[in-house]
Amino acid sequence: MSNPIRIDLGPRSYDVHVGSGLLARAGELIAPHARSGRVFVISDENVAPLYGPTLTASLARAGLRHSMTVLAPGEATKSFAQLEYLCRTLLRSGIVRGDLVVALGGGVIGDLTGLAAGLVMRGIDYVQIPTTLLSQVDSSVGGKTAVDTPEGKNLVGMIHQPRLVLAETDVLATLSAREMRCGYAEIVKAGLIGDADFFHWCEANVARVLAREPEAVAHAITTAIAFKARIVEADEREAGQRALLNLGHTFAHALEAHAGYDDALLHGEAVAAGLALVFSHAAQLGVCSHNDAIRVRAHLENAGLHTDLRTLPGAPYDAEKLLALMAGDKKAEAGALTLVLPRSIGQAFVHKNADPASLLSFLKENIAE
Ligand code: GLY
Repeated sequence: MSNPIRIDLGPRSYDVHVGSGLLARAGELIAPHARSGRVFVISDENVAPLYGPTLTASLARAGLRHSMTVLAPGEATKSFAQLEYLCRTLLRSGIVRGDLVVALGGGVIGDLTGLAAGLVMRGIDYVQIPTTLLSQVDSSVGGKTAVDTPEGKNLVGMIHQPRLVLAETDVLATLSAREMRCGYAEIVKAGLIGDADFFHWCEANVARVLAREPEAVAHAITTAIAFKARIVEADEREAGQRALLNLGHTFAHALEAHAGYDDALLHGEAVAAGLALVFSHAAQLGVCSHNDAIRVRAHLENAGLHTDLRTLPGAPYDAEKLLALMAGDKKAEAGALTLVLPRSIGQAFVHKNADPASLLSFLKENIAE
């Protein structure tokens, strides 16, 4: 196992461990962060039976007292109602500031638990143990926590950094091929934003990553997390360059909202389509080359990800509705539409005041093409 990746944020710094066998070692890795010796694990009904016993046995071996709260799986759990339930469950258990909360699950459990930990007693320390490839390379690192409201996804939340992240690669064995592809979309995004060499590595190694070859998976996860770490260190609160991590996401959030946030279109699938679209749009604007756009699209298709709006799960899409959803995206500042655009593979920048008319005609072409 390689050395942990350090997220350097002064007093909020922490390590991200990536590798096999971390769940069995979780107790010893977590113990230094559990000042009271008591740990509250939060998980969901799918993940708890699979990985709860290994985690709790490890906590017990390290002499940590522990209890587990198990929530329903799925995006609907990221709600105010579940946030209240979780906060009150922790309070009724007599949680105190020196206790530690552990999120064992995918992005839903991680986001909700991180927010509850940030709110209860005005802030309890927590640890992320992400159990999907997507949450390992994205949401478990960087401290973004949130719940969804009828007004949109992730609009109520806070930045509350974890004290430790354990990205256990053995859990990938139980993921579906579809979930692997979803995580892969966020991995490849790192290369597209700022590391052309990593994108070339992805082109050569996509099959090995999706086949879960341990060395390739560990390299992909570690590189994507290390890339995100440098951006979060430079701009923890997204005043500037952290927005680059949203490459493809303005399209993606609109596609997800249009499709209705169910299993028809998963987040990673929407991100893949968003990446292909943003490269095509940038090429049409003359900002990046058509060759780069073609190459990105070909790579995502090669990974088994859809890039064509006409056949993307959730189709048919409506261009006007997509544009309205894009304009309502929370990255839109004072009515202006902000897009992260690529100059080339490995060079993204934030483009404020994107032109809605050219976006609309671009979307129409891609839907009717
Ligand atoms: N998922 C993007 C970020 O953490 O900033």
